Amino acid sequence: MKAIIIAIDGPAAAGKGTLAVALAQHLGLPHLDTGLLYRAVGRLMLDEGRDCAGDDASDIAARLAPSDLKRTDLRLPEVDRAASLVAAQPAVRAALLQRQRDFAATHGAVMDGRDIGTAVFPHADIKLFVTASARARAVRRYQQYHDRDPSPAALSQLEAEIEARDHIDSARHVSPLQRAEDAILIETDDLTPDQVLARALDIVARHPKFL
Ligand code: DC
Repeated sequence: MKAIIIAIDGPAAAGKGTLAVALAQHLGLPHLDTGLLYRAVGRLMLDEGRDCAGDDASDIAARLAPSDLKRTDLRLPEVDRAASLVAAQPAVRAALLQRQRDFAATHGAVMDGRDIGTAVFPHADIKLFVTASARARAVRRYQQYHDRDPSPAALSQLEAEIEARDHIDSARHVSPLQRAEDAILIETDDLTPDQVLARALDIVARHPKFL
């Protein structure tokens, strides 16, 4: 297969990570969850007792090692927030840009994040924007962390946190979360992961590189 780059963007817990993994596996492409880069930077800032909102984190972004991305403590609520804050720092985004481009240079890739189709690969072969309502995303995130259904109070709190994080991600000045003009929208509220994958595979199958 020719090297192909598929960009998948969207807000937190919309299903883009699940889709990216499945799509990469189906197509035999490398996959990078770019959120892990920001999570690892946030994690290391917390470890070093630094302020993610105030202190420049670009030195950490520049020396990020592959092992930092494999840590098991990157998906904790405090890291959600730390990642979102360091991701708003322009110098952090600049330090991570080339690393993301290099990842796809030889074999192509499926990459998921917030700015893949707009900033990292504005000329990606295929761009998908995967989204869902804040409520549906709150339910999924809760189930991911706790493996059971949320109480109404827990759900409301999580929904508020997700909306707050959406706001930070969308309102920042550098590479905010936004749908690229040429990205195909997939709304996942009423779709199972398999249905989302089927839709994406259908889009891929119609792309000239696959014909
Ligand atoms: O997808 P995630 O929840 O693991 O992302 C963690 C944070 O990193 C999130 O607040 C948004 C940010 N992020 C970003 O700004 N750009 C990306 N390409 C990926 C993630």
